[in-house]
Amino acid sequence: MKNDIIRIPEEEMERQRGFADAFAALPRRPETYYIVTYGCQMNAHDSEKLAGILDRMGLRPAPDKREADFVLHNTCCIRDNAERKALGNVTWLKELRKERPDLLIGVCGCMVQEPGMAEKLIKQYPFVDLAFGTGNLHELPELLLRCVESGRRVVSVPENESTLAEGVPIRRASSLTGYLTIMYGCNNFCTYCIVPHVRGRERSRSSRDILREAEELRRQGFREIMLLGQNVNSYGSGTGDLSFPQLLDECASLGFERIRFMTSHPKDLSDDLIRVMADRPNIMRHFHLPVQSGSNAVLEAMNRRYTREKYLERLRALRAAMPDIGVTTDLIVAFPGETERDFEDTLSLTDEACFDSAFTFIYSPRVGTKAASMPGQVDPDTAKARIERLIAVQEKNTARVFSSLIGQTVKVLVTDRSRRGGGEVTGKCERNISVNFPGDGEDIGRILPVKITAASHTTLKGEAARE
Ligand code: 5AD
Ligand code: SF4
Repeated sequence: MKNDIIRIPEEEMERQRGFADAFAALPRRPETYYIVTYGCQMNAHDSEKLAGILDRMGLRPAPDKREADFVLHNTCCIRDNAERKALGNVTWLKELRKERPDLLIGVCGCMVQEPGMAEKLIKQYPFVDLAFGTGNLHELPELLLRCVESGRRVVSVPENESTLAEGVPIRRASSLTGYLTIMYGCNNFCTYCIVPHVRGRERSRSSRDILREAEELRRQGFREIMLLGQNVNSYGSGTGDLSFPQLLDECASLGFERIRFMTSHPKDLSDDLIRVMADRPNIMRHFHLPVQSGSNAVLEAMNRRYTREKYLERLRALRAAMPDIGVTTDLIVAFPGETERDFEDTLSLTDEACFDSAFTFIYSPRVGTKAASMPGQVDPDTAKARIERLIAVQEKNTARVFSSLIGQTVKVLVTDRSRRGGGEVTGKCERNISVNFPGDGEDIGRILPVKITAASHTTLKGEAARE
């Protein structure tokens, strides 16, 4: 399918900067903001953009939502529980407003972009002052200005998501890892997934814009970049621009110590991509490759367009080229029509693939997706029993992988003090597993060789090999 990109004209971005200036000059306006983020890295990065825009409008980040004049919830709707959590937390703000009548409440992100949600917010959530979608994030200056100046609610969700904004300011949450969006949306229409319905069709940014941003990040001293998209492997398809392996190779030549990317679709994992990764030691040895199910019948009903055999073949190709690569995945149980046999196929694939870790989900029907109206919806008790069995198999494999790493020396980019404190620091190794080891604040930002000495359920423990 051809990418249908309409880049938002520079004049429009300039107009938004004008609104930002006008907002900053208002005599009485919100001074501080707090953003609550739900969902995936794409959303986390959108929040970095929202923060960048709000900074540009003269607001300051508040340390806590209780202290903020403007609280913005950047929502997710991938599963029902994500949506319920967001709506529950937004409703809680109603209480806060009883104490602070001036509190401004905003909701944005994927959930707002769901069909029918704007109307629902207007009718059932009258305390929400401002709502906008993922497709018009760049219009925040205009929308917030209108909301504050008029004292009225503003709900604005674009119907057409085929545009792409360049030049949005970004307040980056990390000074070590820079998120960089390379494409928006998705054309795959997996039958369970709401993403194409809320994030719209696939739009790739131009490689020139991406590489310019990457160079800027390099100049600012970022050690790692994470290329982001719903389906990065199909970057550039139909545009005549670089392919994803070519783009990755270009990014790898800019001098970053570490490059990561996510998410990939197994059907688009090419030999070219494997070659580029294997040739470039600064592309990290981690591949997130969601398989979703091990049953061919379920994969077909999901419209995944690969088979179990094809998936396992791609895994072998990856591991043949990079024996030390860590593969992680996403798995869904209780997809409509999933039989005990189908589920056992998922168990056996999980065992065979021996993933480092897996995100496991119970299928959640999303209104507007094909699977939501499929026959054979699985009852909740069966679903729960299945996910527990699946988690047990995966935990066994994680333990297998982690114990094979004991005694090895891995390189860790130190990002934080360990949450448990006690003179420990933490960071990710090349295959994206968290490693804790004795250290202090001085180590943050360093890439250190760490000898692995022990493993827990989710992390590795080690000792830095210091000169
Ligand atoms: N129900 C359960 N899991 C889902 N995912 C996406 N849509 C659904 C759904 N309706 C999972 C998939 C995807 C991950 C981001 O979320 O496993 O890879
Ligand atoms: Fe959803 Fe499938 Fe697209 Fe991933 S590839 S975002 S699961 S439709």
